[in-house]
Amino acid sequence: MTLIAIGACYLDTILTAPHYPGEDEKLRASRISRRRGGNCPNTLEILGQLLEHGPSSAESSLNLITVLPSKTSVASQQIKSSLGDSVRLDSCIYREIFSEPASSYIISSQATGSRTIVNYNELPEMTQSEFATAVEPLRAATSRPWFHFEGRAPDVTLECIYYIRKHFPGAEISVEVEKPGRPGLQELADAADVVIYSKGWAQNNGYMCAEDCLRDQSLKTSRASLLCCTWGHDGAAGLEPKTGNFAHVPAHTEELGVIDTIGAGDTFNAGLLYGLVYRGQDWDFQKRLEFANLIAGLKVTQEGFANLQ
Ligand code: FRU
Repeated sequence: MTLIAIGACYLDTILTAPHYPGEDEKLRASRISRRRGGNCPNTLEILGQLLEHGPSSAESSLNLITVLPSKTSVASQQIKSSLGDSVRLDSCIYREIFSEPASSYIISSQATGSRTIVNYNELPEMTQSEFATAVEPLRAATSRPWFHFEGRAPDVTLECIYYIRKHFPGAEISVEVEKPGRPGLQELADAADVVIYSKGWAQNNGYMCAEDCLRDQSLKTSRASLLCCTWGHDGAAGLEPKTGNFAHVPAHTEELGVIDTIGAGDTFNAGLLYGLVYRGQDWDFQKRLEFANLIAGLKVTQEGFANLQ
């Protein structure tokens, strides 16, 4: 199966601090680390691991579509090597006059486990026609690809979804609805087959819990076959609007303690996509949700994304 993930790629600089600082405070961090980030790259990195140990690595291909600085820049080289051989970057869009990648500066609070992210990106966003050019070579590769979108730049993303519906009629489309307050994400949800909502987005829209969000969203998503919502310490929930199946699974972090929550949602997405795309026949709805939740729980109890399989 061919999976194509479309979203931004960042270089993350992470300061681990005893608590989140107040404005104008001086605070000494206990640790600094740098790693490649971005929701879709993180998700693909984890999927690469899962597939290496899973059932169908031979026929599977993982592809990233993202905007990167010049192909020969240090940043683009670092990003490429961070993703290893399992993720293809052939369809990426390189902005040759730029050398700096999108960057995130993240304060990870040991007191609460929160991660506060400030990011900066001077690379011009992908356009719909760049997307069309990027996916063209993939058309011959497979008749039933899976496209996973980070819900950002919603206007362009919606045009890209329409493009896929027209030119890849057998494709499945999932969308991550994560960013609170970003207009246009509801329209993306309505156009997708699978939608994954974050707690932040759900709360910002007035939902009190994951189930609330999913039940109401099932009335606003006309074609989705699966809706999921993650809720931090309260685990995650899933709803199949067409069958009425609903499940809630508790979080798995309590025993081991929270170490690093950066990319927990990206890990949940990897687990869910793994179940949907690569274990479709053998795993049911409950098993897919449990696996995604389990792997996200495991991730927050360790630094980074290594050895999650
Ligand atoms: C984590 C993450 C980071 C990145 C930021 C972008 O989910 O993908 O790796 O810097 O979010 O919003």
